[in-house]
Amino acid sequence: MKTLDTLRTTMRRDQVWDFMRPKQGLELDMSHGTILYLEDISVTFDGFRAIDHLNLYIDAGELRCIIGPNGAGKTTMMDIITGKTRPDTGTAWFGQTIDLLRLSEPEIASLGIGRKFQKPTVFEPLSVMENLELAMAADKRVWPTLRARLTAEQRTRIDEVLETIGLQKHRAQRAGALSHGQKQWLEIGMLLMQDPYLLLVDEPVAGMTHQEMDRTAELLKSLAGKHSVVVVEHDMDFVRSIANKVTVLHQGSVLAEGTMDEVQNDPRVIEVYLGG
Ligand SMILES: Nc1ncnc2c1ncn2[C@@H]1O[C@H](COP(=O)(O)OP(=O)(O)OP(=O)(O)O)[C@@H](O)[C@H]1O
Ligand SMILES: [Mg+2]
Repeated sequence: MKTLDTLRTTMRRDQVWDFMRPKQGLELDMSHGTILYLEDISVTFDGFRAIDHLNLYIDAGELRCIIGPNGAGKTTMMDIITGKTRPDTGTAWFGQTIDLLRLSEPEIASLGIGRKFQKPTVFEPLSVMENLELAMAADKRVWPTLRARLTAEQRTRIDEVLETIGLQKHRAQRAGALSHGQKQWLEIGMLLMQDPYLLLVDEPVAGMTHQEMDRTAELLKSLAGKHSVVVVEHDMDFVRSIANKVTVLHQGSVLAEGTMDEVQNDPRVIEVYLGG
């Protein structure tokens, strides 16, 4: 009888088994003030070394800009952090205890590492609000049932994110009708719905107007402190407007690191940019 009860409980249709749960409850140990450690990472593609003994450390809550010429390895570095590309050698730790190289891409995402690709990938036929709701659902197939019973807490979270990304007035608008800049903010908002520890943003202002760039700078600056943010960007005026610390990548490793003024006056950096 007891066995039957156990079986009934186990088979209940709304039961979520432990192994299916996202690892969201997992504590990230940032006791040393560092959220990400990449050490001695190398990756070779068909004999070409795209990442070459890379060392990179990101502090908890910091906003870091990564610059570097085309092909320097910036996107590949993000691919390694998110588990899309496996390095040949090296170590990648998320906080003190989580070995990223042992985890799959979905596992890394569910641990709280959000990534924004260059091209916005919002759901154009859906409204701004629906896009944010959808981003909240871990399993997209259950979204239609989820949205019918949003909790007060979830509604509050959506309102907060709408305010952060400055799209309150556009909540009912179809995402496809937004400007390019607004779509990029919506996609950042979708990542924020998961409340990530670390956000990776690749070339956020490409194709934006100056006004949109200023607004994006404000947005990214407002995220620092609550999240750690790593921004890869080519636009130097934009980088200057948001950066505390800048890392210059070149040929797959760190060429220089410091304030924007320090790196821009570094002879090696000048050589790479002018010589290239
Ligand atoms: N999957 C892959 N297969 C083969 N080569 C690759 C692959 N991914 C990247 N590369 C190569 O690795 C190098 C680094 O590329 P990556 O895209 O990381 O540079 P990047 O710094 O992001 O450049 P950009 O500023 O142009 O975006 C390039 O030479 C690229 O061609
Ligand atoms: Mg790139």
